[in-house]
Amino acid sequence: MKGIILAGGAGTRLRPLTMVSSKQLLPVYDQPMVYYPLQTLLKAGIKDVLIIVAPDRAGDFLRVLGSGKEWGAKFTYEIQDKPEGLAQAYLIGRSFIGDANVTMILGDNIFLGQDDQIHEAITTFRRGGRIFATEVPDPERFGVVEFDASRRVVSIDEKPKRPKSNFAIVGLYIFDSRVVEIAQQLKLSARGGLEITDVHKAYLSQGELDVRMYSGEWLDTGTFDTLLAAGNLVAEWKKKRG
Ligand code: TTP
Repeated sequence: MKGIILAGGAGTRLRPLTMVSSKQLLPVYDQPMVYYPLQTLLKAGIKDVLIIVAPDRAGDFLRVLGSGKEWGAKFTYEIQDKPEGLAQAYLIGRSFIGDANVTMILGDNIFLGQDDQIHEAITTFRRGGRIFATEVPDPERFGVVEFDASRRVVSIDEKPKRPKSNFAIVGLYIFDSRVVEIAQQLKLSARGGLEITDVHKAYLSQGELDVRMYSGEWLDTGTFDTLLAAGNLVAEWKKKRG
């Protein structure tokens, strides 16, 4: 299993904080934001990690994260010239992925409290796609998954105006190497990017998408309020549990 941290993007919602710093290097309590998704991958046993960054911020990431040696891992870097969607990561990472399975985590997503659940999902993964959903109050900000009474997936929608459920897809996706081929066949969405939900739908249509419930705390830190909430939650967590 290889890992990708997607840490490019424009961070427009956090301006002016992101005028000179990358969003994923902003502080979340006592660490740069990207440390959290990195630690999630490392705790799941992934040691070979590709970090995808925006062109003008590559040097900052190298300075903060280095070669990976200090983390007992190997880091590779790639540049995403323009933020053209999450699924573009699989095109940029094509040669890195090769014929391996790959777990991609978003550089601004924080997972707390259920490392074992993620570890199990990653280490037992063999084929297809495996993603997590969790109940949120504001599903319209995310990819939304609708289930039927027997927990089968009925639909997946990207940032729907009228969400069919409160289950958001969190930013950690486990796929086999066919994801590169799937990404190559995607068309640009109305928003002008390659959507990760279209990758999910491709696996779903082949009956190969396993959607699990994430039962820990999950935060997407892309807005002022969620960035602040993440800092507070991490601080509270560390004081309580060390
Ligand atoms: P988003 O929060 O959707 O986008 P953004 O970071 O550009 O922020 P904003 O909407 O405020 O402009 O991105 C989620 C994560 O994925 C984040 O870590 C940035 C990363 N990302 C990329 O690396 N490349 C991309 O093309 C996109 C859309 C996001």
